[in-house]
Amino acid sequence: MNSMLGYVVVAFLSLAVLFLPRDWSVKFGNESTQGSSVRLLSRRELSSYDGEEGSKGLYLAILGQVFDVHKGYKHYGRGGAYHFMAGKDASLAFISGDFTENGLTDDVSSLSPQQVVALYDWLSFYQREYQNVGLVIGRFYSRTGQPTEALLHVQASLAEGQQLKAQSEAEMVRYPACNTQWSAAMGGRVWCSTKSGGVERDWTGVPRKLFSPGSSGVRCVCVEDPAAAEEDQNLQKYDSCPPHADSCSVEEF
Ligand code: HEM
Repeated sequence: MNSMLGYVVVAFLSLAVLFLPRDWSVKFGNESTQGSSVRLLSRRELSSYDGEEGSKGLYLAILGQVFDVHKGYKHYGRGGAYHFMAGKDASLAFISGDFTENGLTDDVSSLSPQQVVALYDWLSFYQREYQNVGLVIGRFYSRTGQPTEALLHVQASLAEGQQLKAQSEAEMVRYPACNTQWSAAMGGRVWCSTKSGGVERDWTGVPRKLFSPGSSGVRCVCVEDPAAAEEDQNLQKYDSCPPHADSCSVEEF
C-alpha cells in the first residue's frame, strides 16, 4: 500500500514539474533580462557595429532592442539596400520609409496607434529571425535598462492600436465589403455575394453605404439584416436601389 502511495506521489511530482510556471522573460543570447546580465549599449557603441570597414560587427536596433543582423549581411552590410539601418535605431523609418538622415531616427512620437502596431510587427520579425543582443541606452531604456516614459507611451499606443485593429476586423466580418464594378458604358455597380469582401459566409446581404465615424471615407458594405440596419445611423441606402436588392447601380461607390 505504501509503495502504491509512493508511485502516486512520484507521478504527481513529475506532472507538477511539467506544469511549473516557466521563465518567459526575453532572452539575450544565452542570457536573461532577469538579473544584471542584460547587455546595455550606448548609441556610440551601437554605431561601432555598422558593418563599415573595421567595425566590430553588424547590429541594428528597433524600439531600443538590439539585434545581431550579421545573418542578413546582404541587406545590412556594405552595398546592401538597407545598410543605412545598421549601427543605429531607426525605428521611425520602418514605418515612414523615409531613409534620409532626418528620417533615420528613433523618435516615433508622430506615429498613429495603427502605425505603432505595424512597427511592433517589425520588432516581432527581428525577434523571430535574429539574435537579440541587448538594449540601447537612450530613448527607450535607461542606463539601468529600465523602460523609459517614452517606451511606456509607445506601449500604450500599441494597446490602443491593437484594440482599433480588433474593432475594425470585427466590423469587416459584420459588414463585409461589396463587390464593385465600373465601366464607361454601364456606369457603377455594387453587389453582395457570399464571398464579397473576402469574408466567406452563409448569407449574401444587401449593399449599404457605411460612414465610419472619425473618417471622411464612405464604403460599400453588405448588410445581413436590412431591417436591423435601419437602426444604424452610419448606414445609408443607395438612392434608386430597392431596399432588398443584392445588386445596385450607383453613380459613385
Ligand atoms: C517602408 C518601406 C520599407 C522598409 C522599412 C523596408 C525594410 C526592409 C528590410 C529591413 C528588409 C530586410 C529584411 C531582413 O532582414 O531579411 C527588406 C527586405 C526587402 N525589401 Fe524592403 N522595405 C521597404 C520597402 C520596400 C519596397 C517598396 C520594396 C519593393 C519595391 C522592397 C523590397 C524588398 C526586398 C525585395 C527585400 C529582400 C527580400 C529578401 O531577399 O529576403 N522593400 N526590406
